[in-house]
Amino acid sequence: MTAITEFVSYQAEGSVGVVTINNPPVNALSAGVRAGIKGGIEAAVADSSVTSIVLHCEGRTFIAGADITEFGKPPQEPSLHQVIGAIELSTKPVVAAIHGTALGGGLETALGCHYRVATPAAKVGLPEVKLGILPGAGGTQRLPRVVGIPMALQMITSGAPIGAKKALEVGLVDEVAEGDLKAAAIAFAEKVVAEGRPLVKISDRDDKLQEAKDNPGIFDEFRKSIARRTRGFEAPENCIKAVEASVNLPFPEGLARERELFTELVTGEQSKSQRYFFFAERQAAKIPDVPKDTPLIDIKTAGIIGAGTMGGGIAMNFLQAGIPVTIVENNQEALDNGVALIKKNYAATVSKGRMSQDAMDRCMSLLTPTTSLEDVKDVDIVIEAIFENMEIKKELFGKLDEICKDGAILATNTSTLDVEEIGDVTKRPEYVIGLHFFSPANVMRLLEEVRTTKTSKSVMATCMALAKRIGKVPAMVGVCEGFVGNRILHRRSEQATALIMEGALPQDVDRVLFDFGLPMGPFAMSDLAGNDVGWRIRQGKGETSPIADKICEMGRFGQKTGSGYYLYKEGSRTPTPDPVVEEIIMEASKEAGIERRAITDEEILQRCVYPMINEGAKILEEGIATRASDIDVIWVYGYGWPIYRGGPMQYANAVGLENVYNTLLDYQKKYGDYFKPAALLEKLAKEGKEFS
Ligand code: 3HC
Repeated sequence: MTAITEFVSYQAEGSVGVVTINNPPVNALSAGVRAGIKGGIEAAVADSSVTSIVLHCEGRTFIAGADITEFGKPPQEPSLHQVIGAIELSTKPVVAAIHGTALGGGLETALGCHYRVATPAAKVGLPEVKLGILPGAGGTQRLPRVVGIPMALQMITSGAPIGAKKALEVGLVDEVAEGDLKAAAIAFAEKVVAEGRPLVKISDRDDKLQEAKDNPGIFDEFRKSIARRTRGFEAPENCIKAVEASVNLPFPEGLARERELFTELVTGEQSKSQRYFFFAERQAAKIPDVPKDTPLIDIKTAGIIGAGTMGGGIAMNFLQAGIPVTIVENNQEALDNGVALIKKNYAATVSKGRMSQDAMDRCMSLLTPTTSLEDVKDVDIVIEAIFENMEIKKELFGKLDEICKDGAILATNTSTLDVEEIGDVTKRPEYVIGLHFFSPANVMRLLEEVRTTKTSKSVMATCMALAKRIGKVPAMVGVCEGFVGNRILHRRSEQATALIMEGALPQDVDRVLFDFGLPMGPFAMSDLAGNDVGWRIRQGKGETSPIADKICEMGRFGQKTGSGYYLYKEGSRTPTPDPVVEEIIMEASKEAGIERRAITDEEILQRCVYPMINEGAKILEEGIATRASDIDVIWVYGYGWPIYRGGPMQYANAVGLENVYNTLLDYQKKYGDYFKPAALLEKLAKEGKEFS
């Protein structure tokens, strides 16, 4: 075996030259890998003992893409274009042997090969759009030439990979091989030579482009079809333009156009934020004081207490991951309703074609409904999802402590209460943790995990791993009122309310935040969640809020009652501004002695967002969150903060901490100490630093 570079080696195996990449963990195309592949191909072409070449990877996957850490740094030769060019121009057939995931630059490299062989479990895709860029090494020009325009548009603008079986069907791979992949790829290469098959250069093909040449309207139709899903994102439009170029321009010019569109994106703020977020998400899974090799508790079964919307949603995550769930309610009717809701949700997914009937049946067969708390005695983890009341929760945890086996984790889904206090009623506070799911719990990706001062490392490590198993993105935080997500949300809600007292209307605040990229503004969100929820909490705490209270007193609980801050036509979720609400607001301002004034969109945005950033800084000072990026993960996955703005803390970096700090100081002068910048924000701003 000859080492070409640190990461790539070359060896002749009979008549086949094998180029092997070994760059753990995902064989990303760093400079050394690129140089190695090019050198390996050149060595094989020059090796007179071989007649064909196999490109193959060690470890858990084929090349998973360009090395994302290299973006934004000075480019190093050879470029991926040069590497792929060398493969495609090879005078001996090159076969890619794909296992794991061939993604981004990985699939582009495979598309430069003349043939592709994959394992049955392999996946291939171009996920660049998720990083705010487009496939920049020929993917937008070669993929359409293999799978046609409609499928290429779909794959490139969604970033979703397809499995080997589908890839075989559409001609993206030439063979799916069971067993030893390298041996199968070598056999395939030998067969190509023996049968005198041609050196298929995808760049020469254009048969699959004809459909779009005959129907150029295909692109605008596609634009319309994804407009809602991709609102605010820049990358999807450039992806479409690049694919259009594959139809309208000869291959080399198409490549140049792709490069231009790629460069536009990669140098922009959106891609910077999305790439930042890729690593933020992976960082959030790591807890600095919990070593990687911390022993995990084996979670084979789960118990869920409470079969309401939340409990049912949580249960669905476990069932889909194949973990049997015992779900407990205190009366049969509530239990039956809860189970019926789970069934209804699954049936809806099946009817949309996103789940098979078999999979639904499998999930339902793993569910054991019961009205007896005793039935959770053998489960490995219990998650409590009952009414948000400290006394009731404490009583329940006392009982669970008696009933559950030693070593079982007791988790609470509380969104506000002190998890430490709940844990302290048990004899096993080290096994108690908060697992805060977001509604709808079967859909929202975030799992805010809450550690107390006593939660054991093993319980934390187990719950982080469990989150991944049930398809969630976890972030570990400490105990405080509202934890990280809702504590920050409260600041925004307070300002939204203050703004409508001072002169704005709900539709003004909501429009500004919607245009910023959030799925909806605070008033539309309150109408969706139910205005009565906050009302009850305020009543419990003896607090008042003139506008919100008045709206609830009128029975305007939101969408479910047909009116709230807005009016909703029967069966519609579209909010319509309501003069009645305007009157309530005018009256409330008058009673508070506030002279209403025109408020600019800029002030609305700053007043809603900067206090969130300031609260984030306080959360970091207090050590409630480990990293600024954890706060961003919570806000993107839990509250729909636009990923192309990175999260509130990364957004602050983009605006410049000095600007955020100075604006808060201005507001402090005008409106009082509510806006006083946090010490950490002040320090970083003065030092010219960022949240890191
Ligand atoms: N570059 C640099 N590092 C990468 C990377 C990449 N392309 N892909 C993954 N990593 C790192 C992760 O940051 C992580 O590092 P850590 O252990 O220090 O946190 C480690 O590899 C393992 O990654 P995951 O935790 O994500 O491992 P999984 O097994 O869960 O997932 C994966 C593997 C599906 C390959 C996933 O990592 C992934 O989706 N990677 C990104 C794929 C991608 O976006 N490719 C396109 C890149 S852009 C491109 O190719 C441009 C081209 O068109 C020119």
